Amino acid sequence: MSDEPDGALVAAAIDARRNAYAPYSNYQVGAAVRAKNDKIYTGVNVENAAYPEGTCAEAGAIAAMALDGEREIAEVAVAGPDGAIITPCGGCRQKLREFSRADVRIHSCDPAGVRQTVTIGDLLPHAFAPEHLK
Ligand code: THU
Repeated sequence: MSDEPDGALVAAAIDARRNAYAPYSNYQVGAAVRAKNDKIYTGVNVENAAYPEGTCAEAGAIAAMALDGEREIAEVAVAGPDGAIITPCGGCRQKLREFSRADVRIHSCDPAGVRQTVTIGDLLPHAFAPEHLK
């Protein structure tokens, strides 16, 4: 696999973001995960008048992947607003790690493209992860 970010994955996260439902924060987020089967699954943040019931974009993308029977993430893109270097929240780092090896790359994007790339291991070092329960 090349070191270049998957262009289709990045485009999918940026495109998904247009359908984010974020009337309270006005902070629209799109996420895309590429699974081991090479399919791309997307999600958006979905906020709620009862604020804690809102869900993150990453959670939606992971749910779509799981629904399709996939269990292994190969690469992730998350898209936020212009100029932002968005990184997944703490809970989403844990959710992503459930299905990702520590070296899976997370591309932080804004509408113009990738602004930063790190690994899930960078974002969640010393993670408590599925391997602990084996
Ligand atoms: N949000 C995400 O969906 N993903 C992230 O990576 C960071 C934050 C959402 C949650 C909330 O709807 C809004 O962004 C502001 O926190």
